[in-house]
Amino acid sequence: MARVTLEGVRKVYADSGFVAVHDLDLDVRDGEFVVLVGPSGCGKSTTLRMIAGLESITAGRLSIGGRLVNNLPPKERDIAMVFQGYALYPHMTVFENMAFALTLRKQPRRDIEARVDRAADILGLTSVLDRRPRQLSGGQRQRVAIGRAIVRDPQVFLFDEPLSNLDAQFRLEMRREIAMLHRQLGATTIYVTHDQVEAMTLGDRIVVLDAGHVQQIGAPLDLYDHPANRFVAAFIGSPAMNLIDGELAAAPGGPDDGVVFRSLDGALRTPVGGPARAVAKSWAGKPVTLGVRPEHVIVAAPGGADGDATRGTLQGVEPLGYEVIARASAGAVIVTARMVTAALPRPDAPVTIHLDAARVQLFDRTTGLAIGAAQGV
Ligand SMILES: Nc1ncnc2c1ncn2[C@@H]1O[C@H](COP(=O)(O)OP(=O)(O)O)[C@@H](O)[C@H]1O
Ligand SMILES: [Mg+2]
Repeated sequence: MARVTLEGVRKVYADSGFVAVHDLDLDVRDGEFVVLVGPSGCGKSTTLRMIAGLESITAGRLSIGGRLVNNLPPKERDIAMVFQGYALYPHMTVFENMAFALTLRKQPRRDIEARVDRAADILGLTSVLDRRPRQLSGGQRQRVAIGRAIVRDPQVFLFDEPLSNLDAQFRLEMRREIAMLHRQLGATTIYVTHDQVEAMTLGDRIVVLDAGHVQQIGAPLDLYDHPANRFVAAFIGSPAMNLIDGELAAAPGGPDDGVVFRSLDGALRTPVGGPARAVAKSWAGKPVTLGVRPEHVIVAAPGGADGDATRGTLQGVEPLGYEVIARASAGAVIVTARMVTAALPRPDAPVTIHLDAARVQLFDRTTGLAIGAAQGV
């Protein structure tokens, strides 16, 4: 096991001059499970391949286990990588596929058998060791690919979208297995995915990347509760956080001498409370974006005590069984709500939209950055 440290690591692809990774700083602790997440093309695979030694590092320092490895070839870095396209050797059995790297290294036969047996046991592959890859399900093949990594007992595991080829059911199953595997082996793991649910459920910490730049590094719920900017706010969470452009205005004389947010066309107005209120006053009149998670919005049929709710129109309802996702418009703004139970009128009917003032977050509309310490920056 080992710590992995990236200091100012940069990747410029020489042929195109394209900067795929900008000065990345990341300290992965010994035994930690870190997930790199971001949209396609943001530099996740490039970063992982630099750690693996499959891609040269243009600038910066990369250390594994306290050793500078910038110029070490992959086989001297003591890492194992599992890819999306788990290329197994079709003519070899499961055992032979898993044993291959050890056979190349001319390890003693008994040692190889012991390691493969242990990995097969962990991965539930004991009964298929004699089969060939084509006789296995997709999930089993992916497990063999992981088994190949485990038998090498590396200091660091690297995964590049290992579940993307699997159907939804298997993905969920394998996700749980990878989490369990990490608990069992306790090895330092760096895992790449474009899927924020995978990132949230697997990572001790998550690194959100966009266009080669780190957007935020933190524990899953830190990112969810305190996104550092609009990009992270929109990327983490499904349905996505509502992001509404508008302005703040002081509302003196109200019950708590408060601050009110108003959407650009004025159709949506809502008080700003909670931690955001402390910073909101100094932002009166400036361009901001208000963020609120769908679970902190209530859309309802108009009733007696609507208080500070905005009036709007129901656009659509998705009943998901346990919860319902409702979308409602107020002027040009469309707001998504996620509610556990709701008797809602038909689409196009008038509704009220209530935002939980204590849970709203504010972003600078010009820079996209979260405003103030309340947002964790
Ligand atoms: N060998 C290469 N030469 C030039 N550009 C590349 C090369 N490999 C990747 N890129 C570019 O670098 C960016 C990041 O790629 P990649 O790390 O594969 O993204 P991700 O894994 O996040 O989808 C993309 O814009 C991609 O087109
Ligand atoms: Mg990739």
